[in-house]
Amino acid sequence: MTATIIMGGQWGDEGKGKITDALAASASMVVRANGGSNAGHTVKTDQGTFKLHLVPSGILNEACLSVIGAGVVVEPDKLIQELDDLESRSIDTSRLRISDRAHIVMPYHPVLDRLEEERREDLSIGTTLRGNGPAYADKMSRHGIRIGDLQSSAILRNRVRWEVDQKNEIISRLYRSEPLDSNEIMRKAEHWAERLAPYIRPTQVDIQDALDAGDHVLIECAQGAMLDIDYGTYPFVTSSSPTAAGACQGAGVSPRQVERVVAVYKAYTSRVGAGPMPSELHDNTGELIRQRGNEYGTTTGRPRRTGWFDEVAARQSARLNGVDEVALTLVDALDVFDQIRTCTGYRTPAGELHHLPAVLEEGIAAEPVWADHAGWMEDTTGARSYEDLPAQAKDYVAHMEQVLGARVRYIGVGPARDQLIDRGA
Ligand code: GDP
Ligand code: IMO
Ligand code: MG
Repeated sequence: MTATIIMGGQWGDEGKGKITDALAASASMVVRANGGSNAGHTVKTDQGTFKLHLVPSGILNEACLSVIGAGVVVEPDKLIQELDDLESRSIDTSRLRISDRAHIVMPYHPVLDRLEEERREDLSIGTTLRGNGPAYADKMSRHGIRIGDLQSSAILRNRVRWEVDQKNEIISRLYRSEPLDSNEIMRKAEHWAERLAPYIRPTQVDIQDALDAGDHVLIECAQGAMLDIDYGTYPFVTSSSPTAAGACQGAGVSPRQVERVVAVYKAYTSRVGAGPMPSELHDNTGELIRQRGNEYGTTTGRPRRTGWFDEVAARQSARLNGVDEVALTLVDALDVFDQIRTCTGYRTPAGELHHLPAVLEEGIAAEPVWADHAGWMEDTTGARSYEDLPAQAKDYVAHMEQVLGARVRYIGVGPARDQLIDRGA
């Protein structure tokens, strides 16, 4: 009975997909716990590069079942497209299960996401426009339509008509935009029902059965702890809980069944969309980090904001999530810097802070306090064991362990499957 959680410790895109793929080799099941097609998880294998949005990163391991958990919001057209792509590349998708409790991102959700972003003007969140926020809002206000509803056309018809009518009121009256056609949405829903039927399951039962049988279950989170709806940089957050606690809830696993929490951190910081990022760099160094780390969004293609490692945010997420082990990724991106900085505090009008305050308006409130570390100025992409790393890189890893209060077990030195150092338990 063991579950391992893999979660992002920063603002997303830490390399969760790659770490999940690596750990899936020793698991029988990988469960995606939260988020939707706002996520983009890149996995590089000998078959090429896979960009997964809804399908768990376990799908590339033949012995693994992949489960889309109850906490996920599913955009069916995107999922079907992803399944078609995988099948065209000879990946067996019959090993996928979708929770009947997962909510559907309906066609009106991306429309509402866009309209709401436009209405916010300068205060827009910079969402991925995939409709995730509106879908989670509907879930919480008990207006959601779930994957399980696809199994009964009578229920589906009633729910769809009712919800589309209501959303059309909002779209036309509040946003003064074009209403949607409920018949067309119903036709789409019938297509989803047919195409997705083989995958729909009460997955919480499958997961508990696997744990009872002594199997190793991985829980893959999307996003990162600093985008958490409660503990992130609200309102510049996503609409789910990408935390260890959220992972349990989203997958259908008790906290007592979790043996370890692996948090993935980049060796620096990146962020897409708006919101506070105290260690952001707007200079050539930031641009060099972006180039070295190939920091362009998997889902939207947007250039990611980049900066040095933010110890304050990282420590906060490590503590809140009871992190046991760390995967430190993109260490190779720092190979060319003779000096590496980390942000150790925020200078604010109220004094120096060592936690992320609830209200930290972008740009105005926090100045980073920097610490300097010697760079290694050496190519690490060929390192395959800890011993292969330059002394300064080892020092940097040791510093991360001290900051995060957890052991750095995995070290990423490139995007490929084998560019990962595992220092062992
Ligand atoms: P995720 O959303 O957390 O799964 O991360 P993304 O896939 O969105 O972004 C991480 C990017 O970094 C992807 O392009 C990965 O292929 C790449 N990547 C992951 N680990 C490493 C690493 O250690 N070094 C380098 N250079 N790239 C990495
Ligand atoms: P993965 O799983 C990075 C960000 C968006 C935006 C905010 C809200 O690949 O790490 P949303 O569409 O969720 O309502 O947008 O959250 N965001 C991510 N940033 N990685 C992600 O996922 C993200 N998913 C959402 O850019 O700032
Ligand atoms: Mg990503």
